[in-house]
Amino acid sequence: MGVEIRVEGLTKAFGSQTIWQDVSLTLPAGEISVLLGPSGTGKSVFLKSLVGLLKPNRGHIWVGDRDLPYLPESQLYETRKLFGVLFQDGALFGSMNIFDNVAFPLREHTKKSESEVKRIVMEKLELVGLLGAEGKLPGEISGGMKKRAGLARALVLDPEILLVDEPDSGLDPVRTAYLNQTMIDLNAELNQTFLIVTHDINTARTVPDNIGLLFRRELVMFGPREMLLSSEEPVVRQFLNARRVGPIGMSEEKDVSELEAEAKMGMDVGKLPPIPPQQMPTTGRIRPAQHAPGAWCAAHGVTPPPGSFIDELGRNWVEEWPRYVAAMSSPVGGHQIGGPQIGDQQVAGQQQPPGARY
Ligand SMILES: Nc1ncnc2c1ncn2[C@@H]1O[C@H](COP(=O)(O)OP(=O)(O)OP(=O)(O)O)[C@@H](O)[C@H]1O
Ligand SMILES: [Mg+2]
Repeated sequence: MGVEIRVEGLTKAFGSQTIWQDVSLTLPAGEISVLLGPSGTGKSVFLKSLVGLLKPNRGHIWVGDRDLPYLPESQLYETRKLFGVLFQDGALFGSMNIFDNVAFPLREHTKKSESEVKRIVMEKLELVGLLGAEGKLPGEISGGMKKRAGLARALVLDPEILLVDEPDSGLDPVRTAYLNQTMIDLNAELNQTFLIVTHDINTARTVPDNIGLLFRRELVMFGPREMLLSSEEPVVRQFLNARRVGPIGMSEEKDVSELEAEAKMGMDVGKLPPIPPQQMPTTGRIRPAQHAPGAWCAAHGVTPPPGSFIDELGRNWVEEWPRYVAAMSSPVGGHQIGGPQIGDQQVAGQQQPPGARY
């Protein structure tokens, strides 16, 4: 049912180069969190630290009552089984076909029979849309297919925690929409704790429950999606609006003269765009850890930007939500009412069961 990860005061350096310092955050059990940050800020290093592949210099990573950086090798090995990881480069074995790549963790960590291994591998390959490619070598498939094979391998042990490093890089927008929907559906069904690293702003704005942003060796902010999407903090606003104006420059940090020039010309990071409704599972069912639209803003006295939580059909999801929850918890639930409509859901909508709109 998902596992909480609590990171406290984590610092990582390679030699004299500090990558990030004093990072503290909690990945709530069963929720989807997204980690953003300019290239080179250490997102992949963070994921590798979480899974125990890199040792932090200081700080703690609590998974239940186990503090990962300080576990003896045998316990670390056991704890790692809770994690499924999709590495940024896919990290597939080049000499193994896709079937054997995906089967690898099952053969390594379980005593399942070959027929059972085959059943599970084919199930995961179907889930990521790779049936038919199982005999191919990684060198013979496209970049996007490699990503999906990596995701199938990350899923094969049914992990409680999924760390996914740029699942959408090199993927076309339609496939990105499908992949996002796959992760949301998985989370709705199995309630795993997700951490997704992405550069895709649409993904960051619509998929997660929580968003974090790394910049200048610090975790600038981590919290509920609505908190970051309504934040006035310049770095957060610039990043989530994908703007050139703001503190982030081409080589990460702008210098004082550049910022002064922008201020003189009256350039700013612009108005906050509306907060979109969160993307729903294909079935339309409410995820176990899903928050009501607008709940964070209401609880914190924040007025969301005009037009927030309104879908493409003009429905206001702050108002719709109580009705939706009531309808979904009735015996005929998901086949009665459609969830929020946002761009990529319409693509994913093709996967719906008959009669359901989502
Ligand atoms: N094993 C390593 N040894 C030394 N330095 C490393 C190692 N791994 C990563 N780094 C350095 O850590 C920094 C952060 O790298 P990382 O790959 O985590 O960035 P990132 O935020 O994932 O970037 P991108 O968005 O481009 O994937 C970089 O300066 C990189 O060179
Ligand atoms: Mg990276």
